[in-house]
Amino acid sequence: MAQKQIHLAAHFPGVNNTTVWSDPAAGSHIEFRSFARFAQAAERGKFDFLFLAEGLRLREQNGQIYDLDVVGRPDTFTVLAALAAVTEKLGLTGTINSTFNEPYEVARQFASLDHLTDGRAAWNVVTSWDAFTGENFRRGGFLAQDQRYERARTFLQTTFELFDSWRGDEVVADQENGTFLADANAGAFRHSDEHFDIAGRFGVPRSPQGRPVIFQAGDSDEGREFAASSADVIFSRHSTREAGQAFFADVKGRLPKYGRTAEQLLIMPAATFVIGDTDAEAAELAHEVRRQQVSGQTAIRSLEQVWNRDLSDLDPDGPLPQFDPVVGENHVAQGRASVRMHKDPLATAATWRALAEAKQLSIRELMVEVTARQSFVGSPATVAATIDDFVQSDAADGFVLVPHITPSGLDPFVDRVVPLLQERGVFRADYAGTTLRDHLGLAFPG
Ligand SMILES: Cc1cc2nc3c(=O)[nH]c(=O)nc-3n(C[C@H](O)[C@H](O)[C@H](O)COP(=O)(O)O)c2cc1C
Repeated sequence: MAQKQIHLAAHFPGVNNTTVWSDPAAGSHIEFRSFARFAQAAERGKFDFLFLAEGLRLREQNGQIYDLDVVGRPDTFTVLAALAAVTEKLGLTGTINSTFNEPYEVARQFASLDHLTDGRAAWNVVTSWDAFTGENFRRGGFLAQDQRYERARTFLQTTFELFDSWRGDEVVADQENGTFLADANAGAFRHSDEHFDIAGRFGVPRSPQGRPVIFQAGDSDEGREFAASSADVIFSRHSTREAGQAFFADVKGRLPKYGRTAEQLLIMPAATFVIGDTDAEAAELAHEVRRQQVSGQTAIRSLEQVWNRDLSDLDPDGPLPQFDPVVGENHVAQGRASVRMHKDPLATAATWRALAEAKQLSIRELMVEVTARQSFVGSPATVAATIDDFVQSDAADGFVLVPHITPSGLDPFVDRVVPLLQERGVFRADYAGTTLRDHLGLAFPG
């Protein structure tokens, strides 16, 4: 059987406490030159796209800004539009939620970005996860999960109607004047349902990709159904071989009922990497990176997210607390995904206690082990072989790489791993097409 081609993307880390700021190479997360430097490295590596997540509210802990999150997150469209000017082939994916926005506005922004980039725009549709974020918006608070996905579904459908409103022979490009000539019906739309009741004319002619490529990132059953019905790519967090294979089989198995095939939905987990000259050197480096990522203060803060109470008087080099976590709604840490992942804090505490006891670990040492996994650690040859194996064995269609240093952290991968993947014949030596749909092997929407 022919080998699968690997897809690669680069995630510019947003609000996070895993970037190693103490490294002399670490730069700004706000200045444009960081974004440009990062995007150009990805394009040099012939990556499919650059990815921006969305963080709409600064995270808090114990009622205060989480001061280990060094930066905020500048506006996605502004950053991507600027990147359009300094890249040529790289896809540009923005995460924009469907809970606090309106379809007309979002469709206009993505159609514009697709024009500006000659067909490189993608939209990661998220529903956003907490009422804390919602407080920033007019809507206030939050929608229950099923309502969020219902709104997401109809939101996306409405934007498709807008993207498609210029379809057909009513639009003629006037090459000489560089303008579009439209007949009387161009852009006309009308949409009415429980969430949106809008009509008018869409102001942006059909864009080079027809519609932006659609990404989805939710992990619940509703999220997976949404992806199976409507997305082109899933950004997942299942980056190990086993978890990846299970997720891959689950989601691809949902496609037939929507009349779709496995090639129409790509699965790309987020993945971190540490590369050394040898496997042993990489392992050492990886441990060092983890120690830099988890300071004593970070360790205590991470523990508070599970214990659900202030633990600032604990010694990070000492043992885990004897008392149990506070069960109930978590108010200690606001705006964090990791809090939701510890659905049963007592069980997490029991697992961690057992691990700490077995390996004689302090709080900090334990947190080094149990928070933020490192996906690919090894020499360039090992990392290339592992990624290839994961993709060929259907644990993923490719990976969205998240370096621990911004903006130069992608370089070792681009310079040392990409050439090996190219030698293996599983990654492009150059871009074959111009649009993101071309890179991802996705058809133009009918
Ligand atoms: C890998 C991954 C990345 C996500 N990235 C974002 C993000 O950047 N911004 C955001 O608001 N939500 C993000 N989400 C949240 C999802 O959109 C969704 O709101 C959340 O996962 C709750 O839905 P679920 O219960 O289906 O997982 C992400 C979720 C996952 C699994």
